[in-house]
Amino acid sequence: MAKLEVVIFPDDRLRRKCRKIEKIDDSLKTLAEEMFEVMYQDDGVGLAAPQVGLDIRMVVIDIPKEDGSQGENKLVLINPEFTSVEGKVLSTEGCLSVPDYTAEIERYEKVTVKALDLEGKEQVYEADGLFAICLQHELEHLDGKLFIDHLSNIKRGILYKRYLKLKKEAQRAARNRENA
Ligand code: NI
Repeated sequence: MAKLEVVIFPDDRLRRKCRKIEKIDDSLKTLAEEMFEVMYQDDGVGLAAPQVGLDIRMVVIDIPKEDGSQGENKLVLINPEFTSVEGKVLSTEGCLSVPDYTAEIERYEKVTVKALDLEGKEQVYEADGLFAICLQHELEHLDGKLFIDHLSNIKRGILYKRYLKLKKEAQRAARNRENA
């Protein structure tokens, strides 16, 4: 498998509704490990499959410990669904697919999510704090939604133009390198 790369906004692959995973096998386990690698490289706490260009309902999450280290809270959620949500809280978020940008949006304070793990067993996660926010952020990715969709149309429009310009500049630079 080619090395995974993070898909950057704007990109249609971030806007697809992902399909349910029907079969959990070794290739999915390998994919999960590769997603963790990509996530750690970019200092993320969560990553959803569409962010590496795949339209399947899987996310990986690793909430850092108090000292900031990661590796002990690794979770893989397959076909995750909310079973309850509660309260409201303001959350400052960023996304590996929208680099160098954060915004404050409203989220549920507590959520319960059920999902299959890599063994195919159903797990239930009751979450608050960063874990709850992360679950909401990552699960939205599976339905083609980004955290910036919570902003006003005007703000999102400005972001779209800014990131499209950056993308075109990067593509031009890559072409120039090839032609050099
Ligand atoms: Ni994200």
